[in-house]
Amino acid sequence: MSSIQFVKETKTFILSNQQISYILGVEEGVLIHYYFGKCIKNFSNVPEYPQNINQSFSPRLSGAENEYFSLNNLPQEYPGNNQGDYRTPANEVTHANGSTVTDFRYHSFKIIQGKPELDGLPATYADDDSEAETLIIKLVDAVSSMELYLSYTIFAAQSVIVRSARYVNAGTEDCRIEKAMSSSIDFPYAERELFFLSGAWANERNLIREPIMPGTKQLGSVRGASSHAINPFLGIGSKHFTESVGEVYGFSLVYSGNHEMIVEEDQIGQCRVQLGINSHDFSWQLKPGDDFQTPEVVMGYSEEGLGKLSSAFHELFNQHLVRGRYKNETRPVLINNWEATYFDFDAQKILDIAKASSELGVELFVLDDGWFGHRENDRSSLGDWFVNEEKLPGGLDGISKAVHQLGMKFGLWFEPEMISEDSELFKRHPDWILKTPGYPASLGRNQYVLDFSRQEVRDNIYQQMKKVLDSAAIDYIKWDMNRNMSEVYSSALGSTQQGEVYHRYILGLYEFLERLTSECPNILFESCSGGGGRFDPGMLYYMPQTWTSDNTDAISRLKIQYGTSIVYPVSTMGAHVSTVPNHQTGRVTPFEVRGDVAMSGVLGYELNVTKLSEKEKKEMKQQISFYKKHRELIQFGDFYRLLSPFEGAATAWQFVSRDKKEALVIYVKAHAEAAPHLNVLKLAGLTPEKMYLDESGKQYSGDELMLLGLFVENLLKGEKTSEYQSCCLYLKA
Ligand code: DGJ
Repeated sequence: MSSIQFVKETKTFILSNQQISYILGVEEGVLIHYYFGKCIKNFSNVPEYPQNINQSFSPRLSGAENEYFSLNNLPQEYPGNNQGDYRTPANEVTHANGSTVTDFRYHSFKIIQGKPELDGLPATYADDDSEAETLIIKLVDAVSSMELYLSYTIFAAQSVIVRSARYVNAGTEDCRIEKAMSSSIDFPYAERELFFLSGAWANERNLIREPIMPGTKQLGSVRGASSHAINPFLGIGSKHFTESVGEVYGFSLVYSGNHEMIVEEDQIGQCRVQLGINSHDFSWQLKPGDDFQTPEVVMGYSEEGLGKLSSAFHELFNQHLVRGRYKNETRPVLINNWEATYFDFDAQKILDIAKASSELGVELFVLDDGWFGHRENDRSSLGDWFVNEEKLPGGLDGISKAVHQLGMKFGLWFEPEMISEDSELFKRHPDWILKTPGYPASLGRNQYVLDFSRQEVRDNIYQQMKKVLDSAAIDYIKWDMNRNMSEVYSSALGSTQQGEVYHRYILGLYEFLERLTSECPNILFESCSGGGGRFDPGMLYYMPQTWTSDNTDAISRLKIQYGTSIVYPVSTMGAHVSTVPNHQTGRVTPFEVRGDVAMSGVLGYELNVTKLSEKEKKEMKQQISFYKKHRELIQFGDFYRLLSPFEGAATAWQFVSRDKKEALVIYVKAHAEAAPHLNVLKLAGLTPEKMYLDESGKQYSGDELMLLGLFVENLLKGEKTSEYQSCCLYLKA
């Protein structure tokens, strides 16, 4: 049950469910933030902010009754610009006369059952009105007549608040929005730690922790994508928070383009956190009557450490973000030919791999890059989405039929947003790329970025894709995107609108994805951007899984998957067993270790199965059959992180079924020791009084497993002297 109350006497809004409360109010017409955290059952006093503590050099808001009322100090909900709050504003608007003050004051509110959609943007949703409630507060800047609508949704069962902002130009003159954050929140103290997910291609989403210090820390992306470098997520927690202890807040932006995240500790130790579209190279022209909707931010809370915060995000994303057939359906085990063949394949090679994999239990064959145009390497043919009959003489229909005859589904790779100079499409439309007049366009992986802000460009690619999809039975699409943007400029827009191109591109992408996914409801989509360069909630709204990283090395994957799990559910993480030496790191790990790590996500294989030894084939068959038995538990169970690869040589995590009757533990040791310290692994999330049996028939009580734990050395598979060892323990009550 959630509820939103308005207390008229104190002009206070209280949003609560069983777990959290979010409280804000109106003072001097300004929206003031009072509280976000564990549910306060009886809120009767508005906090008395000591407004006189920092009065020097803090201008008093003009017209305020209270002589100390200064925006510079107060914890606000959505701070404006240039009115004496010297912290970071949530918006910047240039009015027709060049002025930049924004002074949005409370006007009115409405409360809506459920959650309205966001126009043109991905967003969390409620299937049923009883699952969520939404407060929309209208504010008005009386001078410019601009209106601002702040939206707050509380879900009944999750400890999250979802926020966004919409601007309407209700005046008579044009203005330009230079910055429009999705959310801003001020905490009255800053003695906390900041954490976020940073990385690079093949090394995505490392968990970084650092103290919050005075000044402003800005994180974000200006690459035209949410990026490998900084994921659109950040959190703050009480000092030394752990997986199960401490107060932790997480903020996740539902957006796939340039993003900006700010953490600012002010001069009296308060902390402001903001997320939204990156204001670098952004401006949006708002003519009278126009409106601008920001993407939304999910703000999560846990009073029991990081583990519970992740659970809140996992649950929300699984139940209120991911859509379509595969929302609740377990995902097939796939084989992808990329690392097995790269561009060097023909129909026979593909069918040999497909046949050998089908015999081992693989359910879906994915034909990766290289099937179209005359693409023999990464220098040509993007934009020419027609099959290369020289490589695949029977066309896609032929290969798809042959794969289906093996009892497998058939999937295909596309990179729809890109174009090669060496392509038919480029010959016809060289002006369809993002390119700034007078400046040469830079290549990235030998390709240009198509201007997806333009309808005719999207329509052309859409029609080409549709033709392919109509030509053969295709059950899965991998949507790739292999470079970031540069020289961003659209020849379809005038000079005053070039600041809109990054965002219009993303809106165009979303429109395309909405059209494609709703026209092909039975296709399983997996998004990809050179691995995990666009692993964000925006893409998950359209495509329920993401290729987590191009790095398939099991040991590197421990950190990548661990970091990813801070926000994203296991059901969204594509993870493949590949060959050794690994193509990205050169590392050699045992087949079972590779299997145990890949099994911790949506399992797939990316190697030439025809070249495996009989022993490896046997192992692969066993892995697949084990995974199929337990994939419901792995993909949709509750996930617990037990040991962090960022803190030691061992990593462990655990999946627990909703009814707590089943659990699966995976433990990986990433280097050999002669006289190792004893490792005791304590499990989590079990019912203390329940008895659990392992596969050998040994019995343990839940509290034994959680309090006493297990000696890991007794469980490890493989040679004791092997550098990499793992184990996988299944328990059933
Ligand atoms: C990058 C992807 O991440 C890989 O898996 C593969 O699909 C290549 N692109 C193909 O070009």
